[in-house]
Amino acid sequence: MTQDIRVTIDTAALRHNVATLKAAVAPARVMAVVKANAYGHGAVECARAFVDAGVDWLGVADLDEAVELREAGVTAPVLAWLHAPGETFERAAAHDVTPAVSDVAQLEAAAAAGVRAVHLCVDTGLSRNGAVAAEWPEFFARAAALADRLPVEGVMTHLSNASPEEDGAQVAAFLSAIETLGGLGLEPRLRHVAASAAALHFADVGQGPVDMVRFGLAAYGLSPFPDRRAADLGLRPALTMRAPVTTVKRVPAGEGVSYGYVFRPERDTTIAIVPVGYSDGVDRAASDRASVTIGQRTYRVRGRIAMNALVIDVGDDPVEVGDEVVLFGDPALGHQGAEDWARAFDGITYEVVASLSARLPRSYA
Ligand SMILES: Cc1ncc(COP(=O)(O)O)c(C=O)c1O
Repeated sequence: MTQDIRVTIDTAALRHNVATLKAAVAPARVMAVVKANAYGHGAVECARAFVDAGVDWLGVADLDEAVELREAGVTAPVLAWLHAPGETFERAAAHDVTPAVSDVAQLEAAAAAGVRAVHLCVDTGLSRNGAVAAEWPEFFARAAALADRLPVEGVMTHLSNASPEEDGAQVAAFLSAIETLGGLGLEPRLRHVAASAAALHFADVGQGPVDMVRFGLAAYGLSPFPDRRAADLGLRPALTMRAPVTTVKRVPAGEGVSYGYVFRPERDTTIAIVPVGYSDGVDRAASDRASVTIGQRTYRVRGRIAMNALVIDVGDDPVEVGDEVVLFGDPALGHQGAEDWARAFDGITYEVVASLSARLPRSYA
């Protein structure tokens, strides 16, 4: 059944989004973030499409993801920023992957492994990885001492997407980290921030001392803002998820539908079963709330989403086995958007795509 679910990725949309984002942050460079299987879109194929579209760098969370790209023949610069305790960075050196390091131990391990260069990751207020301001003197001094054999090519920080003001405060803290580095004679050529939301907030982000912007969600054509559609940002959603109707049946008023009978139709109706469930990555909390489309008509998901199936109520419409159901895609084509599904389970758009099971076949057009 998994084979009947069709996840298609429109690479022309990926290219269009890169062009839009490059124009938005010019003259800064862009890094496309392809972690988490390229937000569910397929890491290797998306990496290739992004590189063809002119991105300068690819970003991943960890070295496993970076090595997957290298083994598939992707040669563009790759940065990885999340490392296991005790990471030796030997794989980074062997595969020419650039690590972003967050502390002295990682810095020294990267130097010992002989990696080509590092980026220093600083925490300017997100409170995740990266060295906090109190650690900068020691961290930066060690980086300066090792710089002859381990060039500091970049410095990065990640923004919280909390509000334009709070992201702005983080950018200001980032500038003070850059100044501190300068005081030690370190002038990394790539000073980079993220993410989609911040770059779209700050129209002039690429005009100040930021040389590169890291984009994830927006590169896939999805909006990072709950209240703004991708189309309004000039972006095109690349991923469409489809599956055929496998069963159609008439149910009388009052009959329980799916687990727990949370749905009982008020009048006789037709239900159609779609072979997609939470094991495919569709959030069960969207039960009885999300919608899908068949042709130009929109139908509500009814009852609980099961492991491998969901049920839609098609009323008296002549829906047949084999009809194509679009779970989500590009709203400009009349489909539900990933953001509509996110709203249906009180989640975020990121989750809708990044949760899609890796075992679903994906095709690229
Ligand atoms: C370090 C880093 N940079 C950039 C991004 C991309 O963020 P977004 O998808 O919001 O553009 C992420 C994603 O979480 C990240 O972890």
